[in-house]
Amino acid sequence: MNLTPVERQIGKDNFNEAVGHSRRSFLKGVAATVPTLGAAYFGYSQLTGNPVKTGFIGTGDEGSVLLTQHPPAYMDIVAIADIRPTNRDRAFFGDGNTDRVGLIEKLGRDKVKSIRRYNSHSELLADSEIEAVVIAVPLNQHAPIAIEALKAGKHVLTEKLMAHNISQCKEMIKVAREKNRLLAVGHQRHYSVLYDNCNDLIRNGLLGDIKFIRASWHRNNSFPDRDSWNKSISREDRQALEKTITEYGFDSVEQLINWRLYNKTGGGLMAELGSHQLDACSIFLGKVHPLAVQGYGGKNFYGVKGVGSPDKQNDTREIDDHVYVTFEFPGPHYQDDNDDIVIVTYSSINTNRLEPYGETVFGSRGTLMVLQEQEALLYKEAGPGSAGGLEQRLSLIQGDDGGPVLQASASLAPTAQAGVAADAVGTKVSRGYTEEMEHFCHCIRTNNYSPPSEGGLRCNGTVAMGDAIMALTSNLAMKHKKRIVFKEEWFDPDSPAVPEDDPEVLA
Ligand SMILES: NC(=O)c1ccc[n+]([C@@H]2O[C@H](COP(=O)([O-])OP(=O)(O)OC[C@H]3O[C@@H](n4cnc5c(N)ncnc54)[C@H](O)[C@@H]3O)[C@@H](O)[C@H]2O)c1
Repeated sequence: MNLTPVERQIGKDNFNEAVGHSRRSFLKGVAATVPTLGAAYFGYSQLTGNPVKTGFIGTGDEGSVLLTQHPPAYMDIVAIADIRPTNRDRAFFGDGNTDRVGLIEKLGRDKVKSIRRYNSHSELLADSEIEAVVIAVPLNQHAPIAIEALKAGKHVLTEKLMAHNISQCKEMIKVAREKNRLLAVGHQRHYSVLYDNCNDLIRNGLLGDIKFIRASWHRNNSFPDRDSWNKSISREDRQALEKTITEYGFDSVEQLINWRLYNKTGGGLMAELGSHQLDACSIFLGKVHPLAVQGYGGKNFYGVKGVGSPDKQNDTREIDDHVYVTFEFPGPHYQDDNDDIVIVTYSSINTNRLEPYGETVFGSRGTLMVLQEQEALLYKEAGPGSAGGLEQRLSLIQGDDGGPVLQASASLAPTAQAGVAADAVGTKVSRGYTEEMEHFCHCIRTNNYSPPSEGGLRCNGTVAMGDAIMALTSNLAMKHKKRIVFKEEWFDPDSPAVPEDDPEVLA
C-alpha cells in the first residue's frame, strides 16, 4: 500500500505509542539495560569473558553480513573458510559495502593476524580449537556441511532455509541430538526487537480478530543487469574452481556462483524470500502450523523468450520468477466443524517493486504493517462512533475486560512511554543477526538445550524445520498444481514422514 509521508509518520507514531503503553514496565527494564537490547528482550545475559571460538564457513554475501555484525563479546572468530578465493579476501577486506566492512576494519589488524583462513569447510572442521561454526553456503550444502560439523563435535548455526528437503532437516536434528550439540537456524526475525514488539501487540489483542495476512517480496529485475541472483564470475574464482568444483556438490562454477537459480542447488523464491515471511506470519498467529497451501508459480518473465534484453534472453534459470501462494492457517477457535481460518497470501515477483517487501496483518480492530524489517505502522479500524483510518492518531486505553484497546486521539503529544518505545525500537533497527549470534553463544556457554519457551534457541531445528516445510510444500503445491493439506507428522522430527515423499502429494 502506498502511504503519504504524513500517513506513514502517523502509523509509526501509533505503533510506538501502543508499544510504549502495552510494554510499559517491560520497556523500563529494557531502557535501563540498553545497549544490551537483545539480551534484555530475549532473556539472556551478557557473557563475561570466554567468548565461543567460532569458525565461519561461507563468506559470500550473507557470511560477510554476519561477520560484520557478529558480537565479539560472545563470539571469537578464530577461522574462516570459503572455496572462492575472492570471498576469502572479502571476509578480511570487505567489499566497499557499509553492511559488509571486513574483519580488519571490524576487529583491527592485530586480532585479524591470528584468524586462520581455510580453502574449504572440511579443513576448517578439522581445526580442534573451533567450538562452533556459522554456515552461510548455498542451500544444497546446508545439511551435508552441518551434519559433518555436528559429527566433528561443533555446535552449528546454519543459515536458512534449514535444508534442501525435509528428510535432511530430520537427519540434522537427529545428529545434533546424538552428538549433544546445539543446532540453530538463521531465521533472524525470531531475534528482531521490531517483530517482538509487533507480536506483543497482536498477543494483547489490539488488532482484534485476525482473518487475513498479506505478505510479499517484490523486486524489479526487468531492467538489464538488475538481477542480484545472476552474477558474473571473476577469472580468479573460475581458475581456482574449474577443475575441482564437482567435489563440492556443484556441476559447474556457474552453478556455485548463481546457485539460487537452479533446482539442484536452491529452493526458489519461497525458500529464499518467502520462508522468512511465512515464518513471521506463523509467529504472529501464535506459532501454529498451517492447514493447507495452494498456489501458482511460473517463469513469467525470464521464460518468455524473444522479448527483452540480451541478459534475459540468455538466462538459463530453472526456478520460477513469479510465485503467488495462499496458505490456510487455523484461527484461535479453529475446530474441524468451523471455519475459523486465517488466510495468508504471499507473492514474490520480479517485475515491479513499488511495494518492496513486508507483511500486513489485517484485524477487525486494527491493521499492522511491517515494512522491510525496519519499521512498523499501526492504524485503527473506524467503528460506530469512533474514528480510524490512515490519518488517525491513536492512544491506548483500558478496555472493558481490563486489556488494552486502541482509541482514536485528536492530538497525541509524545509521551514518556512512546519515547522509550522509539528508543527501544531504535533509529537503526537491528534485523536480529547480532542477537541470534549472541543467544547462540550464550546457549553454548550455559549448556542451554531447552526449548524456546524455556529460554532455549528461538529458532532451533524443529522450529526451522516448520519454516522449511511451509516453503518447500508450497513449491510442491505449485509444481503439482494442487491444494496440499499439511500433515502433522511432517512437523514431528521423530516421524519419518516428509512432504516430498508423501504419496498423496505426489499422486
Ligand atoms: N538470513 C538472511 O536474511 C539471509 C540473507 C541472504 C542469504 N541468506 C542465506 O545465506 C546462505 C548464503 O547465501 P549468500 O547470499 O551468502 O550466497 P553466496 O553465494 O554469496 O555465498 C556462499 C558462499 O559459500 C561458499 N561455499 C560453497 N561451498 C563451500 C564449502 N564446501 N566450503 C566453504 N565455502 C563454501 C561459496 O564459495 C560462497 O562464497 C544461503 O543459504 C542464503 O539463503 C540468508
